Amino acid sequence: MGFLRPVYVLFLFFGVKVYCQYEIYQWDEDYDQEPNEDYEPEFQFRQNVEYGVPFYQPTLGCARECFCPTNFPSSMYCDNRKLKTIPNIPMHIQQVYLQFNEIDVVTSNSLINATHLKEINLSHNKIQKVDYGVFAKFSNLLQLHLEHNNLEEFPFPLPKSLERLLLGYNKISTLPPNAMDGLVNLTMLDLCHNHLDDSTLREKTLANMEKLMQLNLCNNRLESMPPGLPSSLMYLSLENNSISSIPDNYFDKLPKLHALRMSHNKLEDILYDTFNLSNLIELNVGHNKLKQAFYIPRNLEHLYLENNEIENINVTMMCPSVDPLYDHHLTYLRVDHNRLKEPISSYIFSCFPHIHSIYYGEQRSIDGQMIELKTQVFRRFQDDDYDDGDDHEDHDNTHEGQAGSEEHFDPHYYEI
Ligand SMILES: *[C@@H]1O[C@H](CO)[C@@H](O)[C@H](O)[C@H]1NC(C)=O
Ligand SMILES: *[C@@H]1O[C@H](CO)[C@@H](O)[C@H](O)[C@H]1NC(C)=O
Ligand SMILES: *[C@@H]1O[C@H](CO)[C@@H](O)[C@H](O)[C@H]1NC(C)=O
Ligand SMILES: *[C@@H]1O[C@H](CO)[C@@H](O)[C@H](O)[C@H]1NC(C)=O
Ligand SMILES: *[C@@H]1O[C@H](CO)[C@@H](O)[C@H](O)[C@H]1NC(C)=O
Ligand SMILES: *[C@@H]1O[C@H](CO)[C@@H](O)[C@H](O)[C@H]1NC(C)=O
Repeated sequence: MGFLRPVYVLFLFFGVKVYCQYEIYQWDEDYDQEPNEDYEPEFQFRQNVEYGVPFYQPTLGCARECFCPTNFPSSMYCDNRKLKTIPNIPMHIQQVYLQFNEIDVVTSNSLINATHLKEINLSHNKIQKVDYGVFAKFSNLLQLHLEHNNLEEFPFPLPKSLERLLLGYNKISTLPPNAMDGLVNLTMLDLCHNHLDDSTLREKTLANMEKLMQLNLCNNRLESMPPGLPSSLMYLSLENNSISSIPDNYFDKLPKLHALRMSHNKLEDILYDTFNLSNLIELNVGHNKLKQAFYIPRNLEHLYLENNEIENINVTMMCPSVDPLYDHHLTYLRVDHNRLKEPISSYIFSCFPHIHSIYYGEQRSIDGQMIELKTQVFRRFQDDDYDDGDDHEDHDNTHEGQAGSEEHFDPHYYEI
């Protein structure tokens, strides 16, 4: 498997940069056809365990503890070695991989010679302390991994060149007001699984990052929507906070939003047109307290509404008018664990002609019992007439049933 590594490094070199950042957070995962209850992990781990004998290269130098592949002399691999301190990093090194070690502090002289670093991976260590300004002096640094450590403070200041900053799974509870100042090139910021609350995210904290495309704030302690987000944002993750409402016109400033993940919050009443976002493709508001549906923007493909308190899905509300020349793109709808008493009106297929599946699963009755609608999963073939450019990945799934067959049945559910 060792040969894969150079390939990966090559990938980094020849710059599919903008896209590879999304691999870390699974934005592009397939939607769950038969979802299970496990919460999806945010990160994919690539653990390196296959190194044998440390390899020393006399020409350019490599730390004795580490491995520098001959073909990729600017990379140094020091991961999974039980290291307690950062080894000496020679000047020519541009990528250093130190993940899965036992490093607990980043001191000002630990990286002193490595002025050309573009990427530092210090994830999965025990870092509690970062000396002031250690990272700021790397004026070429593009990517900094510090996820899965014990940081309580944001490692301020950071170099202005930074494009991707990963700080998930730490204990960060405050951000200096000017934490992000000057980080004009940051495209991805991951702060999931920290201890951030509303008081730390002020109006101006994130506003100046004009290139920010992805912001992950899941699993924190937010009670309201983060203010002042930059209008460049395309992916916003706020799962598992305690957000109970969305201010009027909040998303007007985020016209580029493609995906919004807000499951496991406390959303209760939202305005009918809250999610009227013309570029939105994925919306997850499962595990909230919503009582009714809302306007579905035209480009939305995947909608997650499970584990809410919806008794009746009003299709007229989701789709006030049908225009055959301008049809909606919705393909997947998940509505299990609500309070539905019957399947959604078949009008939904006129409104959303591209729908492939509606996942009904179990529903809760008024006395709290679980019930099952007769139709648990509604699937149908895609009509060949529709030229659905996004008709990906599920051609080979076994689809059963045809449109419009089962919703006339009555009564609609079994009790369990
Ligand atoms: C950095 O470490 C993480 C593990 O925490 C890993 O997922 C990621 O792929 C590493 N980055 C590179 C470029 O090796
Ligand atoms: C930095 O480089 C100098 C000269 O090459 C060397 O003596 C020193 O040990 C290096 N320090 C570290 C921390 O790498
Ligand atoms: C930001 O990125 C641009 C384009 O890649 C680059 O020219 C510029 O120098 C970067 N800014 C900083 C502060 O590194
Ligand atoms: C949400 O966060 C709490 C801690 O704040 C944690 O106990 C719980 O497991 C998380 N739930 C999910 C679904 O991640
Ligand atoms: C959605 O927004 C568009 C403008 O972007 C507007 O024309 C339309 O009336 C809105 N629809 C609803 C239901 O609010
Ligand atoms: C569905 O929504 C429409 C438009 O908001 C409303 O006029 C209608 O009364 C609603 N129907 C039900 C059954 O709630």
